[in-house]
Amino acid sequence: MSETTRTTTDAPSGVGVGGPQDVVEVGPGATGPQDAGGLDARRVSWSVDGRLILDGVDCTAPTGAVSGLLGPNGSGKSTLLRVLAGVRAPSAGAAGDAAQVRFEGTDLLALPRRRRARVLALVEQDASTDLPLSVLDAVLLGRIPHRALLAGDSARDREVATAALARAGMAAFADREVATLSGGERQRVHLARALAQEPALLLLDEPTNHLDIAAQLDTMRVLRDLAHDGVTVLAALHDLNLAAQTCDHVVVLADGRVVAAGDVRDVLVPDVLDPVYGVRSDVLVHPRTGRPVLTFAPQD
Ligand SMILES: Nc1ncnc2c1ncn2[C@@H]1O[C@H](COP(=O)(O)OP(=O)(O)OP(=O)(O)O)[C@@H](O)[C@H]1O
Ligand SMILES: [Mg+2]
Repeated sequence: MSETTRTTTDAPSGVGVGGPQDVVEVGPGATGPQDAGGLDARRVSWSVDGRLILDGVDCTAPTGAVSGLLGPNGSGKSTLLRVLAGVRAPSAGAAGDAAQVRFEGTDLLALPRRRRARVLALVEQDASTDLPLSVLDAVLLGRIPHRALLAGDSARDREVATAALARAGMAAFADREVATLSGGERQRVHLARALAQEPALLLLDEPTNHLDIAAQLDTMRVLRDLAHDGVTVLAALHDLNLAAQTCDHVVVLADGRVVAAGDVRDVLVPDVLDPVYGVRSDVLVHPRTGRPVLTFAPQD
């Protein structure tokens, strides 16, 4: 067990951190067990080679909000997103409890793949495409769950894909081969493909990691706009300031467990962040937005 984990799990409850049994749900962004709206995942575990990577994770993402999934490298963010998306089946938890993943009251794990793909889209971390596809054709892949088996693209499919490309700032690249794009351009094409899927639940794994600062802000604005239109967004993010600026709700993972969840102003505080990341943080208040602005120093 790492130093960070011990610090985290040994910290007294009531300071925003705790083990899986005493996760602190804090602030107005927190959702309680009675909430049926949005994404509501319970007791999600996943293990490989006898190692428990996710240990009974409870994770909510309110409807029409941008939620951030935070946590250090290896804490389980990508694994959790894959389980939520149905790409990986959950394992039985330590107590033998079955995982439950509900979205707007529907059991996502029980949905057939094609129907699930009409509800949710996942943008994977560093997704790559080896297929010799044009950008527009790559984005049109997002329309497959919406059309009859073996049917070609309809005029509406092309319309939706073109609008998705424009929304992701990639309209000018429609005819380019995906393989010739830069990392940041490719990342935005993957976002466009997910937008073309018209999901009610959008899961993104570090959607800004290859982007310049303006493109990061553009992507986060797209996520905010989607949330405004009623889409439930859950994005794994490393940039805590980007999360502080953009997210309504955050969930913090450490060593495969949720250690805090709730409103950014309540969760992005030194009592939570310092033991999880092993740093010393200071929180300022943005003069215009009133949102937290974080600075970090080594812990020594
Ligand atoms: N197929 C696998 N086989 C073995 N270990 C795995 C496998 N998939 C994930 N892991 C391990 O599970 C842990 C969590 O991985 P995951 O990719 O979910 O972390 P993460 O929080 O997304 O990290 P990062 O911020 O670096 O992307 C890591 O220690 C990883 O090495
Ligand atoms: Mg990851």
